[in-house]
Amino acid sequence: MNEKTLPLLPESASNLSPQIDALMMAELGFSVFFSILIFVLVTVFAIKFRRKSDYDVTPHIHGSLILELGWSLLPFAMILGFFVWGTTVYFKAYAIQPNDAMEIFVTGKQWMWKVQHPEGPREINELHVPVGRALKFTMISEDVIHSYYIPAFRLKRDVLPGRYTTMYVTPTKVGKFHLFCAEYCGTQHSGMIGTVYVQEQSDYEKWVAGGDESMSARGEALFGQYGCVTCHLPDGKGRGPSLVGVYNSNVKLQGGNLVKADDAYLRESILNPRAKVVDTYQSIMPTFQGQISEEGLLQIIAYIKSLEKEEGGQQ
Ligand code: CUA
Repeated sequence: MNEKTLPLLPESASNLSPQIDALMMAELGFSVFFSILIFVLVTVFAIKFRRKSDYDVTPHIHGSLILELGWSLLPFAMILGFFVWGTTVYFKAYAIQPNDAMEIFVTGKQWMWKVQHPEGPREINELHVPVGRALKFTMISEDVIHSYYIPAFRLKRDVLPGRYTTMYVTPTKVGKFHLFCAEYCGTQHSGMIGTVYVQEQSDYEKWVAGGDESMSARGEALFGQYGCVTCHLPDGKGRGPSLVGVYNSNVKLQGGNLVKADDAYLRESILNPRAKVVDTYQSIMPTFQGQISEEGLLQIIAYIKSLEKEEGGQQ
């Protein structure tokens, strides 16, 4: 609980915090040590090797291979050490998905943060999460570049228009924490802030139970509303391919290439159906660009994902 942190640092409330703080302090210590060393040596040498009289002759100094190699390779190895250390932490935050990660869907827009939980609750400028549970954030922007930043988690990533970005973290402390937008995004950028509530599991479950329809139920409604259901028949006999079990599977495209049907692929196929047409199907699907909000797209993807779990292909 009472970890010692510099008063300069924000509260430490995630699995990443101690790792990132340690890395930062090590880099800071490294920089300070070598800065002082260089300053001291410059001063000492300036005094020691100064011109002492008008008749001073500059001595002839021979190079030393060992010295040259030493001060090249040693710092190189040290910096490489920092690179490996930093990359390890970076991958943990941005690339390696924990096994049982709970999904959170963030949509940024001028000037608010909208969050959807798969179970149903939606919130604006707030985020409720349980303590001790690995989280996966999938984020996208409706307009310009924003950046989702929770200092107490030491977690920040740009939220881009037109592309999903992801990040992973496990909150380790119950409490209320700041949420910021960390990328200048217009007049109200400074007001694009919010609060993160890290709750005990039981409190979180109570909170979730207060939500309404699940994301996939909303997605199913949109699937009907936009007429997707008329072509994407579950038995595969429609004008479009069946979407049952398609999520995260390898889809064969016209021309023979395989593509993984992940969030990004599904989003692209809704907005720009001609980009990657499934093998043996015609490119007849109209674009839905500009018709469905990013939140809606996430809901439709959640629905398509839910079709995976149901064996035997019902709708
Ligand atoms: Cu959104 Cu700054």
